[in-house]
This record gives sequence, structure tokens and C-alpha cells, in this order.
Amino acid sequence: MNAAVVTSFDEPPHYQQFDAPQPGTEHELLVEVLAVGLHPRVRTGARGAHYTSTGALPLIPGIDAVGQRPDGKRIYFMAAGDTNGTMADQALVDERRAIELPDDVDVTRVAAAMNPAMSSWVALRRRVPLKPDQSVLVLGATGNAGSMAVQVAKRLGAGRVIGAGRDPGRLQTLTSLGADEVVRLTDDAAATAGALATAAAEVDIVVDYLWGAPAGHAIPALLTARQDRSRALDWIQIGAIAGPTIELPSVALRSANLRIQGSGQGSVSPAGYRAELPSLIDEIAAGTIAVTPKPVPLSEVERIWSQPDVPGERIVLVP
Ligand SMILES: NC(=O)c1ccc[n+]([C@@H]2O[C@H](COP(=O)([O-])OP(=O)(O)OC[C@H]3O[C@@H](n4cnc5c(N)ncnc54)[C@H](OP(=O)(O)O)[C@@H]3O)[C@@H](O)[C@H]2O)c1
Repeated sequence: MNAAVVTSFDEPPHYQQFDAPQPGTEHELLVEVLAVGLHPRVRTGARGAHYTSTGALPLIPGIDAVGQRPDGKRIYFMAAGDTNGTMADQALVDERRAIELPDDVDVTRVAAAMNPAMSSWVALRRRVPLKPDQSVLVLGATGNAGSMAVQVAKRLGAGRVIGAGRDPGRLQTLTSLGADEVVRLTDDAAATAGALATAAAEVDIVVDYLWGAPAGHAIPALLTARQDRSRALDWIQIGAIAGPTIELPSVALRSANLRIQGSGQGSVSPAGYRAELPSLIDEIAAGTIAVTPKPVPLSEVERIWSQPDVPGERIVLVP
């Protein structure tokens, strides 16, 4: 079969021939791949830098895809393993990690949206179940996952939703996607802290895609401005675009009811993810979550890999 193949963690994948994987258990089958999202998580895995990476090479990148089973039914599925990814003509599917799609759904929309949308959908249903009218701050709301988190929070019943991010144009778009307020994150840490405190000191939940310095500054800014610090502030750590670590003064945990937890592979079980996927697919199929797929032939994977992402778009490789 044709596949994107990573032979070195220092190089983009090459488009080449590769032996098709063979089903090894009663739950596995080989499917035709129709569309694969090039998510940040895929790039991290192809660099050998994701926390689930085993270091094994060669590998086929791609963590999920839309495919077609031999019976013609189209499915959304998660990759079967770390090295057996989805960026190929064919991929191995563990049927327990696959969901049948509605017949009329646009496969590139599903491939583009599932990974970024799942991050907040699962977090706000499995990690900190959102209660009606709770308020949510999305830290890092200008990316695909962040802008979808704004919409997901609203869809799940949030009252006030505040989106915080850097890009002014994308921040404006968030308002049309349902954000009640937006906060611009700038290099001026004091001004950013003040703006976050004014807009979001009373939120119930923070959905954090940034971590690093922006989260390190935002936590004390919100807590010190909070009227009742004993009221829970649930911080859900989802991405680390701005840095893998933060500096957190211990007083932040003693002087306020700050509850930090993450949401991702490991903190949510495979069964937990699977249980959430059908309802999310329904939302994407119904168009309640805005998504802009950019289809690119899989044969162009090496060229597209090193090009910067266009904000708001998600590259979808099509075998
Ligand atoms: N745990 C999970 O379940 C899960 C699932 C999906 C994704 N994720 C993670 O979530 C993160 C976002 O994914 P995505 O699909 O939304 O990626 P994306 O579409 O590429 O968006 C990333 C955004 O990050 C912003 N950004 C970059 N550096 C920043 C900084 N220093 N400060 C503030 N904003 C910064 C950029 O916005 P500006 O244009 O405003 O700079 C960019 O649009 C990734 O880390 C991904 O791995 C986690």
C-alpha cells in the first residue's frame, strides 16, 4: 500500500510503499482510509515526542481517521497502535475503537473535527462534568481545539463562556461562535493578568490548551481577584502549546479551592472516549461545531508537513 512513513524523528514522513498491516485478533480488520486529520498530536508523535511514544521506527503517523469497511460502511476510528497509524491507503482497525458514521456525513469534516472537538467534549463530560449555567474560560481559544471548546461549552449548557487567545482576528471570530467575551493574551503579562481577572475571575471551569507561562500567570491572576476563594475553580489541563511546565506558588493551592486535573489519553480510559464519540459525531454531522477542513492528497504529505498551519484550518490528508 502507499503510506506516509516516518523513518527518522528528525525528518518529515516520506510517501512510499509499505507492507499493509495484517489483522492479528478477532477484533481487527483492514479498512480503506478515506481521510486523516493532521493534528498537532500527530506531529508530536511523528517526532517521537508524545508521552505515549515508544521510540519505535519506522512508523506510520496518524492517530485517527475516517475509513470504509469491506462491507461499505464508513467509520471513524482511532489508530490501532503507536506505529500502525492511519496515514496510508489502508489501516488496521480494532472494531472496539470504531464508530459507524451517518451515511450523509462529510468525511473530511469528521476527520478534521473529531480530535480537536473531542478534547473539550470529553473534558467537560468525563473529567469535570459541566453543570447548567456554569461559566467557562477557554485559555488558548484561537486554535482549532480552543475555538471548538467555546462552542462545545455552550452546547453542553454553559452560561458565560470567555475565550482568551493571541490572534485578534480569530478572537473576533469567537464572538460569532458563541463566546460572550474575549480576552487578548499579549506579551504584557501585567495587562493580560488584569484583563483575565476582570473578565474571568468568577468562572467555574478553565479549559487550558496553553499551560506554560500563560497558565502560570493566569492562575494567580484569577484566584487573587476571586470574590470567594473557597468556591471551586476547576482547571482542566488539555494542551501545552505554550510550554510543558508551569511555576505554581504553593499558596495558590492553599489559599483557594483550585482543583487541577488533565484530560487526555490515560486520564480518560479508551472505553470512556468510545462512549463519548457517537454523540460528538452527531454534533459534527449536524454542523453545530464549525470546522474548516483543508483536503490535501496523501502523496503530498512531505511537502505539507513543513508548511505552517493556516489558523482555523485543519489539514486533512486524503489517500
Ligand atoms: N488532551 C487532549 O485530549 C487533546 C486533544 C486535542 C488536542 N490537544 C492539544 O490541544 C492543543 C491545541 O490543539 P489544536 O488542534 O487547537 O491546535 P491548533 O489548531 O494548531 O491551534 C494552536 C493554537 O495555539 C495558539 N498558540 C500557539 N502558541 C501560543 C502561545 N504561546 N500562547 C497562546 N497561544 C498560542 C495559536 O493561536 P494564535 O494564532 O492566537 O497564536 C494556534 O492557533 C495542542 O497542544 C494539542 O496537542 C489535546
